[in-house]
Amino acid sequence: MQRLGQSGAACSGESRAGDDERGRAEIARSRDAEYLSVLSSLPESPIYPFADLRSSMARTLTIKSTQKLLSGSEMPVLGYGVYKTPASVAEEVTVEALRVGYRHIDSAAAYGNENQVAAAIKSAGLARSDVFLTTKIPPAASASGYEAARQSINDSLRQAATEYFDLILIHAPFGGKEARLGSWRALVEAQRAGKTRSIGVSNFGIHHLKELDAYIQSGGGGQIEVGQYEIHPWLGRSEVVEWLWKRGAVVQAYCPIVRNQRGDEPILQELSRKYGKTPAQVLIRWSLQKGFVPLPKSVTPSRIKENADVFDFELGEDDMARLTTDKYEPCAWDPTVSPL
Ligand SMILES: NC(=O)c1ccc[n+]([C@@H]2O[C@H](COP(=O)([O-])OP(=O)(O)OC[C@H]3O[C@@H](n4cnc5c(N)ncnc54)[C@H](OP(=O)(O)O)[C@@H]3O)[C@@H](O)[C@H]2O)c1
Repeated sequence: MQRLGQSGAACSGESRAGDDERGRAEIARSRDAEYLSVLSSLPESPIYPFADLRSSMARTLTIKSTQKLLSGSEMPVLGYGVYKTPASVAEEVTVEALRVGYRHIDSAAAYGNENQVAAAIKSAGLARSDVFLTTKIPPAASASGYEAARQSINDSLRQAATEYFDLILIHAPFGGKEARLGSWRALVEAQRAGKTRSIGVSNFGIHHLKELDAYIQSGGGGQIEVGQYEIHPWLGRSEVVEWLWKRGAVVQAYCPIVRNQRGDEPILQELSRKYGKTPAQVLIRWSLQKGFVPLPKSVTPSRIKENADVFDFELGEDDMARLTTDKYEPCAWDPTVSPL
């Protein structure tokens, strides 16, 4: 897989410092004031995955480009979402996605299709190691705590008939502190046992993230490598994104095409005409250029292809800014606001 930019800065010592220097210089040349302000307050984190994408290198992205995770694994920058993809068609449509070139599948125990999407890897003639496969501990399990989360991870491995996942996330922060931290402990154990390469969270609000960070800092183990959130121009989540990026986590964007509910927005129509791309392609490209890892879902072959055909154009700086809003308008659930 092609790797982007200075993510090799994950190595230690002087070379890391040198890479950091170069990374900062690179960012300084980048064009987005919003992220420059983030950079100025970065702690001594070894890698800044977003730095690669905020630079002029964004235009060199391909479907094979990856973002490097804190564990050292590489995550392809475009994922294929399978929420609401019925098990009856999941293998077939995932084979289609793999044929088109996606190498990253975002599944979950709650989606009921782990078996079929994992089977698609073999059916497409690919090795397990060719594809980045994600699952999530379902809310019912993580809300029950350590034992249920541990069981759920083992069930997912069995369902998918795989020896490991590339990423396991806690799907939502429900259940209270003890359950959340117990689920995290199960994830850390799974990672140490080789059952997953990387771990992270989904839908954690800043208060949940801080609670988890305090646990990790006090010796709880693991690193928040990935945060998965609903993110699109009408829900930027800048506070959460900044918090995660400062700590070197990669941010995945779900509902990147807002479930096809915003296609008539005048700005999208205008940019669609200007770039000769569909509204969905403009939205996916916006997500990539922001430095996120978008996870568009479709069961429709023409759309599966369309959603991956986003690497031959670049939105201009002005258009990126015009498409970005400060609205808070989720189109899906929003567990980030749930209490501790
Ligand atoms: N962690 C979480 O809590 C969470 C929550 C939601 C989603 N996710 C993940 O993120 C993925 C994406 O989110 P999502 O599925 O909710 O929303 P989405 O990807 O924004 O939108 C999917 C919807 O848009 C349609 N669509 C796809 N491509 C299109 C195109 N080019 N033009 C017009 N319509 C198009 C799809 O229809 P067809 O399928 O009929 O083509 C489907 O109805 C999920 O599949 C899942 O993997 C995670």
